[in-house]
Amino acid sequence: MQVVADIAAVRRARHADPSATWGLVPTMGFLHEGHLSLVRQARRDNSRVGVSIFVNPAQFQNPDDLATYPRDPERDLALLKQEGVDLVWTPPPELVYPPGYQTYIHVEEVSRPLEGAARPGHFRGVATVVAKLMNVFQPQRVYFGQKDAQQVAVVKHLVEDLNFPLTVVSCPTVREPDGLAMSSRNVLLSPQVRPHATCLFRALQAGSDAFAQGESQAEALRAVMRTVVNATPMARIDYVSVAHPETLAELDVVEAAAPRSSRGAALLSLAAFVDEVRLIDNLTVGEPACAD
Ligand code: PAJ
Repeated sequence: MQVVADIAAVRRARHADPSATWGLVPTMGFLHEGHLSLVRQARRDNSRVGVSIFVNPAQFQNPDDLATYPRDPERDLALLKQEGVDLVWTPPPELVYPPGYQTYIHVEEVSRPLEGAARPGHFRGVATVVAKLMNVFQPQRVYFGQKDAQQVAVVKHLVEDLNFPLTVVSCPTVREPDGLAMSSRNVLLSPQVRPHATCLFRALQAGSDAFAQGESQAEALRAVMRTVVNATPMARIDYVSVAHPETLAELDVVEAAAPRSSRGAALLSLAAFVDEVRLIDNLTVGEPACAD
C-alpha cells in the first residue's frame, strides 16, 4: 500500500498501469466498519482501490467542530492495509487549499434543505473537495455511504452536471447491533447517553412501519418520528423530514415508486442532538420490488 501526500505522486500511481480500473473512497479518517464497507465494495468492483483521508476544513462551519473531529491516522492506515488498499492520499490542508485559493462549487437546489439548511456552506465544502479528489484520482468509480443520503444526492448532481466521467456508487448504511448508524462522531457520546442514541433509528423504524401499515400522509409520518425522539431523555430534534429521495423536496403524500424505478418512494431522515452530539440518520421507504 502506497501512502502519499503530494498530488503528483497520486497521479503517478494512478496512471502507472493503463489497464487498471480504480475505485476511490473519500473519507475524513477515524475509520469504522461503515468506511470499510465502502472500501470492500470498491475492492470487489475495481482492480485498484484508492482512499483519501482528509478532514476538510471547507465543510465545517464551526472551528470547534473541526478541532474536535476525532483523528487516528496510524490506526486508519493499518485498517486500510488489511483491506488491501493500493493507494492512500493524506494531503495537508495547505496543499488542498493553498493561500489565495478561490474556487468553490455550489450545487444549488439539492444542497438547500435538511443538512444544507442546518449547516450553511457545508455542501459547498463537500462538493468542492469531492470535485478536487475526483480530479486528482480520476477513478472509474467513487463510493459514498447512504448514511449521508443528501451528500450522495449532491455528489450525483455534481458528477452529472460537470460531466465527470465516472460512476457514483452508493452503499448501504452500516449499523451497530442496536441500530445506531456507525459514525466517527459516536465516540463523542458518553457511556450514559450512548443508549439513548438509538432513538434516531427507532424513530425511522416507527415511520417506516407506519408507512408499511398504509399511512401515506407525510406529516403523519413525521409526527410518528418526532414522538419517538421526543420521548427520549437527552435527545433534541434538529429536523425530521419525509422527502423525495432524489430532489429532497418535502412531500405531502408518499406515493409508491414505479415498479421499475431505481429509487424508493420517500427518504425518511432526521437530525437530533443527543446530549450535545449532533447525529443524523435516514431510511428509504417504499423501495420498488425487484424487477424480473
Ligand atoms: P466521512 O464522514 O469520513 O465519511 C466517508 C464516507 O463513509 C461517506 O461516504 C459516508 O457516507 C460513509 N459512511 C459513514 N458512516 C457510514 C455508515 N455507517 N455506513 C455506510 N457508510 C458510511 O462523508 C465524509 O467523510 C466527507 O463529507 C467526504 C465525502 C470525505 C468529503 O470531505
